[in-house]
Amino acid sequence: MTTLAATTLAEHIGSAQIVVCCGSGGVGKTTVAAALGLQAARMGRRAVVATIDPAKRLADALGVPGGLSNEPVRLTIDGPGELWALMLDTASTFDGLVRANAATPDQAERILANGFYRNVAGSLSGTQEYMAAERLHALHDDKRFDLVIIDTPPTRNALDFLDAPNTLTKFIDHPLFKILMLPTRRGLKVLNVAAQPILRTIGKVVGGAALTDAIAFFQAFSGMETGFRQRAEEVMNLLHEDVSRFVLVASPRADTIEEARYFADRLQHSDLSVAATVVNRCTPTFGELPASRPGDSEGAALYDNLAELKAAAVAERTQASELLADEAVHTTWVPTLPEDVHSLDSLDTIRGLLFDSASE
Ligand SMILES: Nc1ncnc2c1ncn2[C@@H]1O[C@H](COP(=O)(O)OP(=O)(O)O)[C@@H](O)[C@H]1O
Ligand SMILES: [Mg+2]
Repeated sequence: MTTLAATTLAEHIGSAQIVVCCGSGGVGKTTVAAALGLQAARMGRRAVVATIDPAKRLADALGVPGGLSNEPVRLTIDGPGELWALMLDTASTFDGLVRANAATPDQAERILANGFYRNVAGSLSGTQEYMAAERLHALHDDKRFDLVIIDTPPTRNALDFLDAPNTLTKFIDHPLFKILMLPTRRGLKVLNVAAQPILRTIGKVVGGAALTDAIAFFQAFSGMETGFRQRAEEVMNLLHEDVSRFVLVASPRADTIEEARYFADRLQHSDLSVAATVVNRCTPTFGELPASRPGDSEGAALYDNLAELKAAAVAERTQASELLADEAVHTTWVPTLPEDVHSLDSLDTIRGLLFDSASE
C-alpha cells in the first residue's frame, strides 16, 4: 500500500467514494471541486459534485446558465463516466427527510404544515450543517453515483457538519423535546402545557401560539429521531473511513495558507487528516527563459519581464511550500488563467492543469 504522502490527486479521485474540498473563500475551492468531478468522469466514474455554498459559483464554473437546484442534474461531458451537480437547499432537504422518514403520510403532512417547522426549524443553529451531512449520506447511498464531491461554504465553520451528530443531539435533547416526549404515568405523552412550569415560562416569552406550534412539531416529530441519529453516526463513520478524502485548497498567499492550516487543524480535531493540497491561482511562468538576453530593447524588455515573473513564481512557491510543510501530502500547483472559469471548456483547462501537468 502506498503512503498517504505519495498518493497523487488522480489516485485519490480514482479510488475515493467521498471527497470534501475545504479552504477559505475565493481561492477556487468550488472551481477545484468541479474540476475534480470532471476528472472523475473522464476516468469513467459516476461523480456528483454537491455544493453547500449558497453562491451560484458551481453552476457558473460548470457553465449551467439556469443554475443548479437541490436535485442532481447530469451534465453533458466527453468521457466514459458521468458528471452530475447539485446545490444543497436546506429546506427542501429537510422536507424530503420528513416525507421519507415519517411513519405515515399524515405524520409528514402535520410536520410540513407546522408553523414552527416552517419558520424556525430551518434556521435553528446547526440545521444547515446537519442537512449537509444527511445529504452526503443519501448521495453516498444513491446507486447513480460512485463518487460524491462536496464543495464546502467559504466560511470558517465550513466543516461544522463534522459535528452534525452533536448538533442533532442538541436538537433532540432540547429540554422542550424531552419534556414532551416524557411518558406520563399513563404512558401518554405530556399534552398539558399549563401543567409544565417551563412551558408556561417559554409561552410567556415566545407567545402562546408559537409555543403550541413548537409543541405540535416536537410531538409530530416523535419517533423519527432514532433514524436521524443513526444516519448522522453513519456519516461520521464514513468520513473516518479510507473511502473519504479531504482536499485542502489554498492560493499562494500567506493568509489563505494560514486559513488552510486552520482547516487542517480543524480536521485533526475531528481525528481526520488532509489527503492532498491544491495551491490554486499561482503566478504563471509562461515557459522557459531563452538561453541569452536579446540585444534589441524590445526583446530585452520581454526577457526581463519573463525573468521577473519566473523569479516571483519561484519565490511564491518556495514560500507556500514552507508554509505547507506540516501537511506532508501531495501538493498540486495550478496557475492563474487569463480569465475566470465559467464554462466546461475553461473548467477542463483547470482539470488538465490539476491532473495532466507535473506536481509534487
Ligand atoms: N486558476 C484560476 N485561474 C483563473 N481564475 C480562477 C482560477 N481558479 C478560480 N478562478 C476564479 O476565481 C473566482 C473564485 O473561484 P471559486 O471557485 O468560486 O472560489 P471559492 O469557491 O474558493 O470561493 C471565480 O471567478 C473563478 O472563476
Ligand atoms: Mg465556493
